[in-house]
Amino acid sequence: MKEIKIAPSILAADFTRLGEEIKSVLRAGASYIHVDVMDGQFVPNISMGVPLVESIRRAFPDVFLDVHLMIVEPGDFVEPFARAGASSLTIHVEADNPDNISAALASARQLGMRTGLSLKPATPAVALESWLAELDMVLVMTVEPGFGAQPFMLDQMDKIRAVRARLDAVNPDCDVEVDGGVKPNTAPIAIGAGANVLVAGSAIFGHDDYAAIIRQLRGEA
Ligand code: DX5
Ligand code: ZN
Repeated sequence: MKEIKIAPSILAADFTRLGEEIKSVLRAGASYIHVDVMDGQFVPNISMGVPLVESIRRAFPDVFLDVHLMIVEPGDFVEPFARAGASSLTIHVEADNPDNISAALASARQLGMRTGLSLKPATPAVALESWLAELDMVLVMTVEPGFGAQPFMLDQMDKIRAVRARLDAVNPDCDVEVDGGVKPNTAPIAIGAGANVLVAGSAIFGHDDYAAIIRQLRGEA
């Protein structure tokens, strides 16, 4: 059984107190800080980018920064995010053609980052097949990307099971992350389907006890 990691998404944090928010969730037991980067083209929202990652890395030299690029042509931003201090870079398989996706992943690995590929809800698991053996993480979206606080899509559980089964065969160390609508009632369903990294934004930020909600999401409460 893989360790369950909790990755608070700062998309839901109070941006006017972001440093304190990050300090609090890390102290409360968060494994990663999940950074949702949106370009207003791949998804109908604009959120945050390279300068923010730089400043988080400067303030938190040891934090694991799990950067989720919801942008078109992500290959153009592999180097800037590597330089900014991203620990892991997850790009969307829908964001460019297969050759450019392969090039972006190779470049991210070469620059020392862990690499991930993400699937929108409408994209089947088979779309990842040619990259499965090389990835450090697969991110299965459980909402339509672009906004926090949306309802968890239960119809993505078969996809999580399918991805986990393929990874067990070709790349067992690879993590499976879910992102979107993760709450104390949906987290165990995602874990049961095979996810071991849980992104949570609105479930955590805004809650009055970060350590308690993180324990609940891990299923320890
Ligand atoms: C969607 C974002 C959200 C966010 C998590 O593009 O990626 O899924 O991280 O939001 P919550 O946990 O509030 O659904
Ligand atoms: Zn995300």
